[in-house]
Amino acid sequence: SHAAPFLIAALVGGYLLGSVPFGLVVTKLAGLGDVRSIGSGNIGATNVLRTGRKDLAFATLVLDGGKGAAAVLIAMLWGPDMALVAGFGAVVGHLFPVWLKFKGGKGVATTLGVIAALAWPVGIACCVTWLLVAAAARYSSLAGLLSLASAPVFSWYILGDLQMVELTAAIAILIWFKHHENILRLLKGEETKIGQKKTE
Ligand code: G3P
Repeated sequence: SHAAPFLIAALVGGYLLGSVPFGLVVTKLAGLGDVRSIGSGNIGATNVLRTGRKDLAFATLVLDGGKGAAAVLIAMLWGPDMALVAGFGAVVGHLFPVWLKFKGGKGVATTLGVIAALAWPVGIACCVTWLLVAAAARYSSLAGLLSLASAPVFSWYILGDLQMVELTAAIAILIWFKHHENILRLLKGEETKIGQKKTE
């Protein structure tokens, strides 16, 4: 176990990496304007896809997932407890980036990157859950919500690691709160399906 200053450094370092809003960056660089003015207003890959640019959506997914994985893998050099803290920091950075007045994304890609880097079998199980729900229901938000809800369950049954259960449960709660508008739309049957534009 590390002393508090090291854990705070991992938390802040993870936060700074996680707070880079790649969806906003890639769409701005592509000259598409502000992705927050279209669709759900979110900065994530799902909403970047609503610009019609699959390549940029894919880049957003990989970069947002990659920053979560990078935070964990870098912190892993100092040990597993540092990696857990940095991973949590990265998700918090994506959800509440200081650069966007703390109005960030919904955290699904970043969390999947964090989980995959901490424990790849759990990461694969969560990604498969996402893909199965997305294939069946065509809602990215529902896929993310169920994938994240499954993370503590998989952490327990695949790993038997209580710290991973606690970490993924804490993140899942944050992410469900961040999806409150999506949850209301899903309940009303008004959620946008994957690849569908808001107005279609
Ligand atoms: O990963 C984000 C997804 O769960 C929801 O995105 O744009 O449909 O609100 P969006």
